[in-house]
Amino acid sequence: MNGARVLLVVSGGIAAYKAAALTSTLVQRGATVDVMLTADAERFIAPLTFAALTARPVYTSLWDAPERIPHIRLVREAEVAIVAPATANLIAKLRAGIADDLATTALLAARIPVLLAPAMNAAMYESETTAENIATLRTRGYEIVEPESGFLAEREHGVGRLASEERLLEAIERARARRRSLLGMRVLVTAGPTQEPFDPVRVIGNASTGATGIALAEEAARRGANVTLLLGPTLLAPPNGVRTERFATAEELLALALRESRDIDLTIAAAAVADWRPSEISAEKRKKSDETLHVDLERTPDVLAALSAAGGSRCIVGFAAETSDHEAHAREKMKRKALDAIVVNDVRDGAGFGLQENGYVLLDRSGARTDLGHAEKRTLAGRLLDALEPLLKGKT
Ligand code: CTP
Repeated sequence: MNGARVLLVVSGGIAAYKAAALTSTLVQRGATVDVMLTADAERFIAPLTFAALTARPVYTSLWDAPERIPHIRLVREAEVAIVAPATANLIAKLRAGIADDLATTALLAARIPVLLAPAMNAAMYESETTAENIATLRTRGYEIVEPESGFLAEREHGVGRLASEERLLEAIERARARRRSLLGMRVLVTAGPTQEPFDPVRVIGNASTGATGIALAEEAARRGANVTLLLGPTLLAPPNGVRTERFATAEELLALALRESRDIDLTIAAAAVADWRPSEISAEKRKKSDETLHVDLERTPDVLAALSAAGGSRCIVGFAAETSDHEAHAREKMKRKALDAIVVNDVRDGAGFGLQENGYVLLDRSGARTDLGHAEKRTLAGRLLDALEPLLKGKT
């Protein structure tokens, strides 16, 4: 924990006193801890306790700090945030995006891993509302440090005790390790659709938004990688901290990809590249007529196959969008393009374009199969990198 930067958010439950012990242990192990208390937490424990333990200012309100926007600074400076205890109310607010105090504003702005350690009465924890809120937050990438079963403040037994200090510390360590897991690595991601011109105003394109590749680039950068994102025409913004180059056509993507493909540790091809383009691009806008229009289409270059053949990447991963015999087709693609692994995407119900959720199965060259489940694209990006990291380490 030496050198760790932790943001601890304490919300108003009886277990708030345990947050003081957690703070003390973190500080003793060499972490720098910034503490935020909600107004309700202050009814259970005084800011002074945390100020004494951390020898740092403790934050309780958006309005009383000498600086104007401590919530943004604090989440930027920390490597990981942990909410312990996380009350049902705080969890509900996070799920809904309510940002009406310092803690919720900071957590909403957080781009760092956020761990939630719920602690409450068993009936509140097990209520459908809280269970659904927690499940939703989990799909959005929050990590839940499950409460334990035992004696509760109401003198009854049940699930709802704050996780043990040991488990909280482990969760913080795991989140930190993940953050550094790609430190110093060079990652190349292709994302988004292509647009192949047909005349000066028309293109042949597809409905990809680039969300999958953007999430992967963002997650890789969060883990410390030096990321280059090659992004097609999309309205989605590229992530902060990621060098982004834009392309429109498959040919432009190929040129960029080959230029960027030297000394890469991990390449992930998530772009939805058009397989065909008009053989001829009309210099003038084509006038409409009542005749049926026939257009000749020719094949575009296979960017991923070219990247793989160029050999500049230590580990190379593609996507396969399939509607039937998914894994057999994907394995064939992996072999044909000489990939290390392929992510199978079931597109029977549409391509997943524009949707927040998706479902992946990862197949690798050794024959291993990992079901990454269905979740939000940002969560899947984390799971995919978790699964690729051992593969990458095996290839050093
Ligand atoms: N790809 C690419 N260049 C192309 C076509 C595809 O880089 N011209 C990449 C995609 O980014 C993806 C993988 O190759 O990683 C998809 O392979 P592809 O052979 O296009 O398969 P599908 O898109 O699944 O479609 P199909 O089954 O029609 O081949």
